[in-house]
Amino acid sequence: MWATIFLLGCHMVCVPALVFVGEPEDRITEFEKPMWWHCQAVNGTANIEYRWEFKSQRLPRNGDQTVFPNGTLVLHRVTYDDVGTYRCTANSGDRQLKSREATLQIACMIYRLTSYVPSAPKFKIYRQWYGLCIFQS
Ligand SMILES: *[C@@H]1O[C@H](CO)[C@@H](O)[C@H](O)[C@H]1NC(C)=O
Ligand SMILES: *[C@@H]1O[C@H](CO)[C@@H](O)[C@H](O)[C@H]1NC(C)=O
Repeated sequence: MWATIFLLGCHMVCVPALVFVGEPEDRITEFEKPMWWHCQAVNGTANIEYRWEFKSQRLPRNGDQTVFPNGTLVLHRVTYDDVGTYRCTANSGDRQLKSREATLQIACMIYRLTSYVPSAPKFKIYRQWYGLCIFQS
């Protein structure tokens, strides 16, 4: 019985847990702008290897992304191909922890005609604001 208690205690105290202290969150960014996500897990002082996945594909998938050893993912120039779901995995040898999924979307400039004078069709007033770009893959 004492041995059991000791082992349980040791299990909880001696093996540091792998937990995320920073996980990616959903983002809306602009077309052709750079963007980044941090991903950070702790496990005592162990070396943690980070991987990033996009649509279940390992990153970087081309020269437009960089995955830094500290877990940061940089997309150098966001295009519509980058829209979708990302996930980070922290790996400390025998343990693996998957982050939550984060979705990247692109904001579009939307123009909408707000005033129109029929007698002077050249004079149109547009209002512009950001909305989400909707597209199909
Ligand atoms: C982190 O996890 C790995 C795998 O369980 C372990 O080998 C390592 O000792 C852990 N903690 C530290 C402080 O390195
Ligand atoms: C990780 O490293 C990159 C490149 O050096 C840096 O830009 C980024 O800020 C670092 N991430 C964190 C969370 O410090």
